[in-house]
Amino acid sequence: MTVLQARTASLDRSDLSAKELDFDSIPLIDIADLTHPDRTRREAVARKIGEACEHVGFFYVANHGVPQALLDAVYGVADRFFAMPTEEKLKVDIHKADRHRGYVPVGGLHADAHNASSHDLQEGFELSLELPQTDPDYLAGNPMYGPNVWPEHPADFKDIANSYYSEMISLGRRLFGGFALALGLEENWFEPKIEKPMGQLRVLYYPPQAGTVDPNQIGIGAHTDYECFTILAQSEHGLQVQNRKGEWIAAPPIPGAFVVNIGDCMQRWTNDRFRSTVHRVINLSGRKRYSLAFFYGANYHATIECLPTCQDAANPPRHPPVKAGDWTVANIKAAYTYVPKAI
Ligand code: OGA
Ligand code: NI
Repeated sequence: MTVLQARTASLDRSDLSAKELDFDSIPLIDIADLTHPDRTRREAVARKIGEACEHVGFFYVANHGVPQALLDAVYGVADRFFAMPTEEKLKVDIHKADRHRGYVPVGGLHADAHNASSHDLQEGFELSLELPQTDPDYLAGNPMYGPNVWPEHPADFKDIANSYYSEMISLGRRLFGGFALALGLEENWFEPKIEKPMGQLRVLYYPPQAGTVDPNQIGIGAHTDYECFTILAQSEHGLQVQNRKGEWIAAPPIPGAFVVNIGDCMQRWTNDRFRSTVHRVINLSGRKRYSLAFFYGANYHATIECLPTCQDAANPPRHPPVKAGDWTVANIKAAYTYVPKAI
């Protein structure tokens, strides 16, 4: 079974389940206590996170500790980057890069795997863990690890984006601790799996869509994310999340909060206990929309297999183990026109 078939099968199954709670709004969770010295305080936050992951697959996090000034700086540099002429942006075209890094022009992504004729109305810039040319995985030809590709202009793009990337790694680690507690695991259970994460930051630009909207070309077509989870910042309205009745629930930007959503990898890891929920973007705001989507992937070499606390005799593992890197590469191949180099 291919990765894509496995993903579809698991979603179909969850849709058939009638007893589970549906949702019509997305919870907001104050995560300040995730680092509280008192374990009961950390557990109280984790319980809320666990409930949101089981019923919705999406939640907002407030009091996350990432400075607003940094977010504003990333939006500012994104605005300057995407406003440059296409030829300038294509100097860092992802299709020319030897790893999954660089500029993704309009048409480079078609996230809705069920609609072959769709292509997303967005431009992106992809960066990942900054590794040196001497990194052994890079030297071995690993398609996910290596140095980033940086535009010459704006000159401050690299520093600002790298600072934001580090904040995402650290916020994500705290969230992994919360997930572990919510799942009845040791709090640091995920740590060895995320020492060299395949975290991918996509800096995204969505032009405004006016008049009649072509359903085959919206900001990003209906999809689930494929990594463990996503931390999203957005400058304007446009994100919509699908509940189990098939209704689209708006997930507008909330000042001072990020959207966090579970991805397919975490759904697999938790034996479908945590949900990877379908979402899309249509930018009807009338303004340019920027978003920063950080996808937390595990170590390339980590094995994703049913967590010990998510299985028993009555609930055996539903998905075979998979290598995290194989999972990511297969999903990139399905969603992008960019093709990762084979190892
Ligand atoms: C994505 C995504 C939402 C947004 O990139 O997978 O769903 O607001 N992005 O950009
Ligand atoms: Ni997404």
